Amino acid sequence: MQALFVNCCPRGDDSRTLRLAHAFLARLRERIADLRIAEQNPYLMQLSPVWGDTLALREKLCDAQDWDHPLIRPAAQMAASDLLVIAAPYWDLSFPSALKIWMEHMWIRNLTFRYRVDQPVGLCKASRAIYITSSGSFIASHDWGTLYVEDCLKTLGVPSFHAIKAEALDLDRSDPASILAEAKERALLLADETAALYQKA
Ligand SMILES: Cc1cc2nc3c(=O)[nH]c(=O)nc-3n(C[C@H](O)[C@H](O)[C@H](O)COP(=O)(O)O)c2cc1C
Repeated sequence: MQALFVNCCPRGDDSRTLRLAHAFLARLRERIADLRIAEQNPYLMQLSPVWGDTLALREKLCDAQDWDHPLIRPAAQMAASDLLVIAAPYWDLSFPSALKIWMEHMWIRNLTFRYRVDQPVGLCKASRAIYITSSGSFIASHDWGTLYVEDCLKTLGVPSFHAIKAEALDLDRSDPASILAEAKERALLLADETAALYQKA
């Protein structure tokens, strides 16, 4: 089984979001013997926003179905993965811009989606996506990041979406250690449930 981990946590080892994601992935590794995890880090990949020139090239590649071009390879890897795990902190009411740029690179006509009667139809293989985030205060109704990631991935053909959020880590009255411990418990339960789902399939 092939999972793709999208690590969009710019603070690296200091990132609480990344720690939660690593806990989730470690439990998944314990539960699924043949699990392989590829990683894409939009910062290390130095993905650029899709400029006009890039768009023109991309349209040509989509027409030719040239999925081995470096511009397309990240999306080809995503499209072929069985499970997606995306980790990003809550920034400015959503997530860091690097994740938006990564997502922009995932919309590849004829590979991750195609049009049917003017509507996009998802072509990705993954049956589940997990989104892991953490925030300084309460996200409440400002959950644009989670909703955006969920909507994109569902449109690209991934039917099941689950989010793990550790909220209010930076408030004066908060106890971040206990918030993170509780979020980790939820992440581990979700990893168990995810592993059971894939083993049944
Ligand atoms: C640039 C930046 C923007 C942030 N924007 C928000 C925000 O809009 N709302 C919020 O509750 N917390 C915000 N925070 C706080 C982070 O969400 C919080 O510290 C989070 O746990 C950081 O995750 P990390 O430890 O994985 O880096 C922001 C932090 C940074 C550095």
